[in-house]
Amino acid sequence: MAGHLDGKVVLITGASSGIGEATARLIAEQGALPVLAARRIDRLEKIAKELDGALSIQADVRDPKQVHHLVETTMKHHGRIDVLINNAGQGLHLPFEQVSLADLVAITELNFYAPLVAMQAVVPIMRERGGGVIVNVSSGSSRMVLPGVGTYAATKAALNMLSLVAREELAPDGILVSLVYPSVTATEFHEKLRAGSMGSGGGGLTPHSPRYVAEAIVRAILTGEAEVVIPHGPERPEEMEIPDSEA
Ligand SMILES: NC(=O)c1ccc[n+]([C@@H]2O[C@H](COP(=O)([O-])OP(=O)(O)OC[C@H]3O[C@@H](n4cnc5c(N)ncnc54)[C@H](OP(=O)(O)O)[C@@H]3O)[C@@H](O)[C@H]2O)c1
Repeated sequence: MAGHLDGKVVLITGASSGIGEATARLIAEQGALPVLAARRIDRLEKIAKELDGALSIQADVRDPKQVHHLVETTMKHHGRIDVLINNAGQGLHLPFEQVSLADLVAITELNFYAPLVAMQAVVPIMRERGGGVIVNVSSGSSRMVLPGVGTYAATKAALNMLSLVAREELAPDGILVSLVYPSVTATEFHEKLRAGSMGSGGGGLTPHSPRYVAEAIVRAILTGEAEVVIPHGPERPEEMEIPDSEA
């Protein structure tokens, strides 16, 4: 389906703030029908009210049952899912010696298991319709050796490998799987770390705007390219080029 967003049903996890919210707003501008998922339903409903055709569904994506319920509710409402954006995520910014297993389990459930379960839930739907697009939001930290963020980066590195393999496995079905790697972005992420602090990794870089990362996500949807890597600061790069949505 790479090529246009008009009327496309796009399910976005973690749409209550930051990159997910900015992506919901951008795709709605481009004519898509966003389905917003997160735990804070009050925020989702407020955002959805401002966007034509948007639907909000409360889901804690660490719970596989709630992921399946999210997909089933979207299907009941729209009858199809054209794009899945696995964006919900949380950081854990501590040297590995200080990381508790409980915290690592929690972010692994969110950053790795949840996208896996969501992909498993939407793939049969997309396959039946002859194709679809999945965008998994990773992190630039998974492409570096960055002391202080090793366990967080490891959850994203696992997501990278899963996504690259899924891309190969799903190619015959016309389902495109892409990865987007944000660099430091100005969102609530840095205040909502599972443990640790921003000083442990990524400090000193000029943050990108969530809108800029949303543009990278839309670019991945429209081009179907395997990986969109957002450059690191300190200089803010030129505005991202989004391909013509009617192309
Ligand atoms: N900001 C950065 O510097 C940066 C850099 C690289 C990669 N990233 C990645 O970008 C993605 C988006 O992060 P962001 O920067 O936009 O951070 P954010 O503003 O904190 O957004 C995180 C989103 O995830 C949702 N979420 C968290 N736990 C959830 C759960 N259990 N179930 C459902 N939703 C959940 C949050 O909603 P609720 O709390 O309402 O559930 C929120 O909407 C993440 O995958 C992150 O790892 C961010």
